[in-house]
Amino acid sequence: MTDLRVVGGDLLPPSDDRRHLLSVADLTRDDVERLLATARSFAHSQERDNKKLPTLRGRLILNVFYESSTRTSSSFELAAKRLSADTMTLKAVGSSVDKGESLKDTALTLSAYDPDVIVLRHPEIGAAQFVARATDARVVNAGDGKHQHPTQALLDLHTMREAFGRLDGLQVAIVGDITHSRVARSLVQALKLVGASAILVGPPALLPVGLAPTTSDIAAIADADVVYVLRMQQERMLAGANFVPSLREYTARWGITPERLRDGQRVMHPGPMNRGVEIDARVADSDASLVVDQVRSGLIVRMAVLYDLLTTGPVAVESAVGVA
Ligand code: NCD
Repeated sequence: MTDLRVVGGDLLPPSDDRRHLLSVADLTRDDVERLLATARSFAHSQERDNKKLPTLRGRLILNVFYESSTRTSSSFELAAKRLSADTMTLKAVGSSVDKGESLKDTALTLSAYDPDVIVLRHPEIGAAQFVARATDARVVNAGDGKHQHPTQALLDLHTMREAFGRLDGLQVAIVGDITHSRVARSLVQALKLVGASAILVGPPALLPVGLAPTTSDIAAIADADVVYVLRMQQERMLAGANFVPSLREYTARWGITPERLRDGQRVMHPGPMNRGVEIDARVADSDASLVVDQVRSGLIVRMAVLYDLLTTGPVAVESAVGVA
């Protein structure tokens, strides 16, 4: 069995297995458009009093979270419930057992229940790919270390399209700790797929090379339609390493304040937000903020992902939504 730590590189090769959603790198533009169209059709169902669709009745979706999560775990659970699937959420936060070994055992144990989908969040890069190989279930990567978080990228695209009416040509400035961010890695790839562009802004030590154009000058956000704010991922920083002189200096140089934004710009954040550090509370609570829209998109996009993995694609979408 693979030791996950040997798969420690920044980017794993595409899985080439379309039964799973492991990485944005596995998706084509058509896949993205199909998933967003499905999400949109589910949005209508979520405006009714009876929000439940019978589509995945009798299916079993397991959510396995080895890292803390509020939005991702709750939205996957609710998405499964809204599609009438059985769902169970297991939180393994704080486990001190050897991670590779415990993941193997967990995968084997959970396989005994014959799940249709396993949604996995894990601190190790490649964990979702590992479980995809170890079980017959379809696997959704809900975050593997600093590597990938594909459903976050999809819900962000959905949020941007709803806000701007388009994705093509949109300019997104991603500001903050890019080096440790799976959200940034997935989002940059997803933006490229749909004809939008990204610039990465932040302290030099937190800007990886080769992903997208980078700058440490916060003035560069002026050209962006969307300012996408990330927190300092201190849990992924090596102890003792100084990526920024201090949080106070970070806020002074890169914090997103009302003064740094221009009219018409929208602000996004995947959460959890640290108000007063990377984002000023006045921005978080302003009309420019799309943070609540992102959470709402998370539900319907995750419904779309579960639906897409367990059915046959766009033709079935209409009938599934129509059945309700
Ligand atoms: C992100 C994550 O877990 O990668 N949050 C999320 O999924 N909503 C970003 C973060 O933790 O900063």
